[in-house]
Amino acid sequence: MFLERGLEMTDTRSAPVDLLVVEDNPADARLIELLLNEVGGFRCQRAETLGEAILSVDANPPDAVLLDLSLPDAHGIETVERLRRAAPALPIVICTGLDDEAMGLLALQHGCQDYLVKGQGDGNLIRRTILYAIERKAVEEERRQTAERLKRVLLQTVRSLSLTLEMRDPYTTGHQRRVAQLSAAIGQRLGLSESVIEGLRTGGLVHDIGKIHIPAEFLSRPGKLSAEVHKVIRMHPQMGWEIMRDIEFPWPVADMIRQHHERLDGTGYPQGLKGDEIIMEARIIAVADVLEAISSHRPYRPALGLDIALAELRDHSGTRYDPVVVQACIDVLDEKGSSILDEDAPLPQ
Ligand SMILES: [Fe+2]
Repeated sequence: MFLERGLEMTDTRSAPVDLLVVEDNPADARLIELLLNEVGGFRCQRAETLGEAILSVDANPPDAVLLDLSLPDAHGIETVERLRRAAPALPIVICTGLDDEAMGLLALQHGCQDYLVKGQGDGNLIRRTILYAIERKAVEEERRQTAERLKRVLLQTVRSLSLTLEMRDPYTTGHQRRVAQLSAAIGQRLGLSESVIEGLRTGGLVHDIGKIHIPAEFLSRPGKLSAEVHKVIRMHPQMGWEIMRDIEFPWPVADMIRQHHERLDGTGYPQGLKGDEIIMEARIIAVADVLEAISSHRPYRPALGLDIALAELRDHSGTRYDPVVVQACIDVLDEKGSSILDEDAPLPQ
């Protein structure tokens, strides 16, 4: 089966494969070229150093690279890392004198397609290995692009949801966007992973989505809110959770939404969770939400300003709000200024 597929692939390829052989030993390079000439179907170029290889790949990208791991200007896995940085989409097959399984595995983990040991195997084996490497890399690249596209579609959908709510509730236009922006900045300040930060942006963008359930006149009613209106508004975290809970986000978005009005001391809603029962993302969005909401205009009151918002956070740090998050929020504002809350802040990428 293996051989059959190899032959089938060779037969269907009309143009010769442009192969860059990165090898500093002239005898080894000649031998590889000789073996490939015998089986045919390859146009070989050669580089003796990694620097030369990177220049060559840049000027004239080959179909694949056969890479020695011991070069005058690079050694071991560093060789792979530097070439991958220069040309991430290029199929790389290692061809080295070192018969080391651990190194072979490491090379694969660093994005190489295969590992050949010099002196083992003939031209047919090298040919098949390179052709498979090209095929595998193409499939891998296609998968990567599909995943990227899906991620973009997901973010665009979340943005649309966010805008849908803001169209109904013009007084809070930009609120979710600014909360998303500030939450991501706090996450960065706390040294959270890129994926968690991406989740914070997403959760922040839709944290109030449950307000879609609230009659529009309640949201834009000027003056003090009645107890009855307040009760309905307080339902929005739970409503948001119900809207989003079946979407299989790679992050706990539904929980971020349901928990963004929970408070560390258990005085929040809807579940009255305490301390660590509230997920970190929700503790961050809660702080960003309070800061943004107090410092902005609301139909029932004018903007109170950043100082009052910060005073609320400081006064209740450790009781209502996570002190570590509050400090990170203060640091972000010290560092970036209030521009992080600009009305025309771009949508988080
Ligand atoms: Fe909210």
